[in-house]
Amino acid sequence: MKKFSVVVAGGGSTFTPGIVLMLLANQQRFPLRAIKFYDNDGARQEIVAEACKVILKEQAPEIEFSYTTDPKVAFTDVDFVMAHIRVGKYPMREKDEKIPLRHGVVGQETCGPGGIAYGMRSIGGVLEIVDYMEKYSPNAWMLNYSNPAAIVAEATRRLRPHSKILNICDMPIGIEGRMAQIAGLKSRKEMRVRYYGLNHFGWWTSIEDLQGNDLMPKIREHVAKHGYVPPTDEPGVEASWNDTFAKAKDVWALDPSTFPNTYLKYYLYPDYVVAHANPEHTRANEVMEHREKHVFSSCAAITQAGKSSAGELEIDEHASYIVDLATAIAFNTQERMLLIVPNQGAINNFDPEAMVEIPCLVGSKGPEPLTVGKIPLFQHGLMSQQVAVEKLVVEAWVEKSYLKLWQAITLSKTVPSASVAKAILDDLVEANKDYWPELK
Ligand code: NAD
Ligand code: G6P
Ligand code: MN
Repeated sequence: MKKFSVVVAGGGSTFTPGIVLMLLANQQRFPLRAIKFYDNDGARQEIVAEACKVILKEQAPEIEFSYTTDPKVAFTDVDFVMAHIRVGKYPMREKDEKIPLRHGVVGQETCGPGGIAYGMRSIGGVLEIVDYMEKYSPNAWMLNYSNPAAIVAEATRRLRPHSKILNICDMPIGIEGRMAQIAGLKSRKEMRVRYYGLNHFGWWTSIEDLQGNDLMPKIREHVAKHGYVPPTDEPGVEASWNDTFAKAKDVWALDPSTFPNTYLKYYLYPDYVVAHANPEHTRANEVMEHREKHVFSSCAAITQAGKSSAGELEIDEHASYIVDLATAIAFNTQERMLLIVPNQGAINNFDPEAMVEIPCLVGSKGPEPLTVGKIPLFQHGLMSQQVAVEKLVVEAWVEKSYLKLWQAITLSKTVPSASVAKAILDDLVEANKDYWPELK
């Protein structure tokens, strides 16, 4: 069996250990000859990499492992780039969340003005990685988790249309895991779903078991009462995420024939979201206090002790999805997966040039999107507005246009007026001057 070489871009990410553990757990179906890490913050990456070195030595000493900040070393002789960079890291995420909140607007990592600000930082960082890959390993595929995936996907569609890059999101599979539990199944892989939308902006229209039985009525009964909070509590789910899963009940009520992505709460209930936010302590603070601290202290403990049992690093669903995708491409499995791809008629009454999140069959030539058909007016209206926001952000980045970015923020459903949009934008320009192109 062929063995593959993978570079993880954003080696210092909190998700890197989970991906390494998942890769190791899947050596039977996706065998590796090399794993490399690449990051532009050498000190941060080193902490994660040294712990992973210990884990690899214990579990798979035959896999060659290295880490570097040198793009040539990182991207030479690789088959897959698994990317999850965060340009500006958590301190900038904190600003993305707190600046809009100061103006009474949703402050969120990927939605609304915060997501737009993050997009303006990510585009350049992700394109740089695509270009390194094409320069040093032109046959490789880039599997990209880096957010905001909707804006990043639009940027790569427009600016690198022929590149082998696939943008993905773990939110649908996270929700599907909960739906499977509600339906009494062991795994989301026992379900076959139909779903359409934009990234962090979509709806399930059908959920069946593998025999073709409709699971929607059973799931609906539960969601109407509890949203996506499953019947038996999942240990370790943080309160803020639990609120989001519970709020899905109210998001669902707007179209009870479908099931919504949880992220729609930011667009449909922004007043509720703002009223329940603490402008002094947002999700970025929670992540820095919990996940980041946990991962980095576990890594340090593992390195110090020289054994993996000294830390508590976990494998997760997030990582399994990227391994599934790599396997589908590597072995032409034709697995059905939700990916962010150019619409090109799949949703036949929607912009063919929009990047949409829909089921695709995945093989060695990449994704083959399945037809969705015609979507209803409610979803069509929401998606048209949001896709225009995403396209305007990319145009603003390309043209260095203040005006287009103001239009983008104004058009976001989370923002009440052009004057509020302008006030937020002016604060974001100031906060992002080390990252954004200088706007004209
Ligand atoms: P993190 O800050 O812990 O890790 C990001 C790493 O990227 C850091 O080590 C940073 O130094 C590095 N980095 C930043 N800019 C870079 C550049 N230009 N080149 C190389 N490396 C660079 O963040 P995290 O919370 O672990 O998340 C990582 C990314 O994964 C984020 O973009 C996050 O939004 C994304 N994510 C996406 C999904 C999804 O559904 N698509 C799910 C989870 C996380
Ligand atoms: C989900 C989404 C990601 C997002 C993440 C944020 O997994 O699909 O796109 O980055 O949530 O989670 P966090 O724990 O960092 O707030
Ligand atoms: Mn996502």
